[in-house]
Amino acid sequence: MVKDTSVLLEEKRVFKANYRIVEEAHVKNWEAEIEKGKDPVSYWAEKAEQFEWFKKWDKVLDESKKPFYKWFTKGKINLSYNAVDRWVSSDKRNQVAVLYANEHGEERKLTYYELYREVNKMANALKNLGVKKGDTVSMYLPMCTELLVSMLACTRIGAVHSVVYSGLSVGAFVERMNDANAKVLITADGTYRRGKIIDLKKIADEALLQCPTIETVVVVKHTGNPIKISELSGREIFYETLIDGESDDCPVEEMDAEDPLFILYTSGSTGKPKGVLHTTAGYMVGVATTLKNIFDIHNGDLWWCTGDVGWITGHSYSIYGPLLLGTTTLIYEGAPDYPDPGAWWNIVEKYGVTKFYTAPTAIRHLMRYGSKYPNLYNLSSLKIMGSVGEPMNPEAWMWLYNKVGKTKIPIMDTWWQTETGMHMISPLPISPLKPGTPTLPIPGVDADVVDENGNSVPLGKGGYLVIKKPWPAMFRTLYKDEERFVDSYWKEIPGGVYNAGDIARKDEDGYIWIQGRSDDVLNIAGHRVGTSEVESAFVSHPAVAECAVIGKSDPIKGHVIKSFVILKEGYTLNTNLIEDLQKHVRYELGPVAVLGEIKQVDQLPKTRSGKIMRRILRAQEEGEDLGDTSTLED
Ligand code: PRX
Repeated sequence: MVKDTSVLLEEKRVFKANYRIVEEAHVKNWEAEIEKGKDPVSYWAEKAEQFEWFKKWDKVLDESKKPFYKWFTKGKINLSYNAVDRWVSSDKRNQVAVLYANEHGEERKLTYYELYREVNKMANALKNLGVKKGDTVSMYLPMCTELLVSMLACTRIGAVHSVVYSGLSVGAFVERMNDANAKVLITADGTYRRGKIIDLKKIADEALLQCPTIETVVVVKHTGNPIKISELSGREIFYETLIDGESDDCPVEEMDAEDPLFILYTSGSTGKPKGVLHTTAGYMVGVATTLKNIFDIHNGDLWWCTGDVGWITGHSYSIYGPLLLGTTTLIYEGAPDYPDPGAWWNIVEKYGVTKFYTAPTAIRHLMRYGSKYPNLYNLSSLKIMGSVGEPMNPEAWMWLYNKVGKTKIPIMDTWWQTETGMHMISPLPISPLKPGTPTLPIPGVDADVVDENGNSVPLGKGGYLVIKKPWPAMFRTLYKDEERFVDSYWKEIPGGVYNAGDIARKDEDGYIWIQGRSDDVLNIAGHRVGTSEVESAFVSHPAVAECAVIGKSDPIKGHVIKSFVILKEGYTLNTNLIEDLQKHVRYELGPVAVLGEIKQVDQLPKTRSGKIMRRILRAQEEGEDLGDTSTLED
């Protein structure tokens, strides 16, 4: 049963776009665009024309093996070519493609031509390491230009990249790298985090002890952290040594539209993380079109997406989307409030950011410091702002709108997922906005809120968020696990629809309000964390016999983890053990696993078949009715 939380959602204010926004907008007539999008095949085919194809597709959408959809079949294209080479032979050749900045005020700029040369060198270097089309290259890197270059070098030669977020730690890293069968790992001497340097190479070294497939480790000198590499082993090499002397001309691999592009791991409700697999052409069409229309990208824009490249937001909208549109993308390595809570606003002023895309958790964090900091900076370059990752609380929306946007700038609250690859539910700049909702499905996307039987629920009622028709940037499968792909997303709700795993409701205007996950996935500061991964980390500690975790509401992070542990004989939960457990879980998973209270219990609520009923723990925590307990063992 879907819990109806409609009473909580009373936000009624509507904000309309001003004439300047409408005048500039790529999409001026929302109804007409929605009408065109009702036929996704012709709609997305038209959008695919923006690219240079080596060979045009035979069929836009192949639905013969549902849910294994294919887009632009038999087409030949290359992402790297369209994101870099295409602009080198245009008047954007000397325009800045990537602007890197960090918390120490350092910066690095690469024009499209400079980016082109770097990508070509790295592509040649990877080839010399024996990387071939279809091989996987893992990256464990901070936000840095080498990360972009390495990703584009892979896509240039048809290698599949698998980026692991640099905030994940040994356990999570090993699991992801082994599942992807990576041949090469690219990492760095460190990453900056609030004035400190986190030694990524040290974490990588520990992980590598358990990763037999890695043949070469490439190390970027990023922070100047004086690390040593064992060059003698022949397995480790510095990035600069690797590319030194390489030619800046590497032929582009003509990729099939459906050739794998990247694997990105995300958390599911059970078992190991899911290797979400994206393929080439459909992904390109989806991310470029959505970025262009939702953030209204024009020549002269300076685009800043604060999302880390270790997550899908960074893949689609820090790198590929903006470069496919030939815009300038800013990547920033640093926290929103370091060295002070004006750090991000300083970046907006210093570089003249025009489009700013961030996450609700960051806004909630900055809101705590009031309007003092945004007021210290000239933010008049901003034209559109956006958010992703979790529900944007109306208070946070209003703060961003009033204090940062000075009531003039629309906020695009975009709903999407690692699996969807691109924005799915979102306003366009011309849309009437309500704080707290991503509004409506975008043109070309058919989303709905349905009950267990797949029937649309009446307006105002809670239900499952589903996507009813295929879309180009959809993931094609879970890497090496087609069965799980079908079972997790396409089976539970009848009608051949994609089950997003979210609970939502529609209001009287059809606007969709996202209420959270329907499964056991936690959303911590916009990062998906699987309960089972955290529980496994706890249980791998010698003191813990069993464990269950739930998300507990938190004003800044959205959720933090509340853990219930059954200890082994002879252990007591004292301050030392709590500290040790915290360190242990952090070591295994990294700082994404934000632990709240750890509570010792004698028993966990379980079904008769032995599954932990986290729902009962959640209800108990929130002081709510326990609901149906007929399957509870005891
Ligand atoms: O629950 C939804 C939430 O984030 C989940 C997807 O997480 P992930 O795959 O890590 O991708 C995050 C970045 C695209 C969704 O199932 N979510 C994402 N955007 C929103 C959101 N919840 C509410 N509003 C959003 N705008």
